[in-house]
Amino acid sequence: MNGDKTIVVTGASSGIGRETAHFLLDEGYRVLVTARNEEKLKEDFAGNENAVILPWDLSDVEQVIPYTKEVYDTVGPISGFVHCAAAGINHLVSMIKPELLQRHFDVNVYAAMLLTAGFAKKKMITENASFVLISSISAHAGTQGQSIYSATKGALEGFIKGSAYELSQKGIRINAIAPGMVLTEPIRKQMEKIDSEGIDNINKGYPFGLGEPRDISNVIEFLFSDKSRWITGQTIIVDGGFMIRKP
Ligand SMILES: NC(=O)c1ccc[n+]([C@@H]2O[C@H](COP(=O)([O-])OP(=O)(O)OC[C@H]3O[C@@H](n4cnc5c(N)ncnc54)[C@H](OP(=O)(O)O)[C@@H]3O)[C@@H](O)[C@H]2O)c1
Repeated sequence: MNGDKTIVVTGASSGIGRETAHFLLDEGYRVLVTARNEEKLKEDFAGNENAVILPWDLSDVEQVIPYTKEVYDTVGPISGFVHCAAAGINHLVSMIKPELLQRHFDVNVYAAMLLTAGFAKKKMITENASFVLISSISAHAGTQGQSIYSATKGALEGFIKGSAYELSQKGIRINAIAPGMVLTEPIRKQMEKIDSEGIDNINKGYPFGLGEPRDISNVIEFLFSDKSRWITGQTIIVDGGFMIRKP
């Protein structure tokens, strides 16, 4: 049944996006995978007859709507997309510069909004389409060095609230998932630089331990399935219990 559904996965060359693309393929979906690194995409997905590789640089925001047209020309109407691509560079508030703002907002926010705009047209989607944007608990709880990143994720969640009703009139659901700390490559690298006391402190924040990419792709797949047909305009926090102790 999922074979009727084509899903676009951004950020599919790494981490949560990569895992999600594999999971959706295993579940029988057709998946269009995208990221900048074509070689990595080919390593993972070339040879899978249900995977379509279409590399994009989503920071080129003027090109995002044209990209959605390219998707249509390549695979026809889609059943949904998940925006996993993101930039997240640590910096202090006093170091914020326009270029840093631009870099984060282009990929994390503008690309997500433009993908939504490009796909929210009758001919671009099948019935009961579902759009999923990956936010972060950073939109809900502060961390040193993450002010711009947090702001981008807050913007995504606001966009979902603001657009869900309008999109419902086209039969489209739009939701966000806000993960806690998930052990992807960049997070593992960051953790290697932290001493054992710091690691203990991080672990203490997670009653059910740190997350694995599959913990997020399970929920992404749920949002593409008919089991979630009554859910729209929501942010689902998936964080192993991190937020239960926050106000
Ligand atoms: N891991 C966590 O702990 C965590 C927690 C909360 C939220 N999240 C969110 O979950 C999502 C995935 O995170 P992750 O840890 O899996 O990240 P990741 O492993 O660093 O993957 C990021 C992906 O984004 C792509 N990307 C970055 N810039 C791009 C651009 N300009 N154009 C196109 N693609 C671009 C990268 O591919 P290329 O380099 O090939 O372009 C890569 O595939 C992000 O939205 C992140 O904010 C992650």
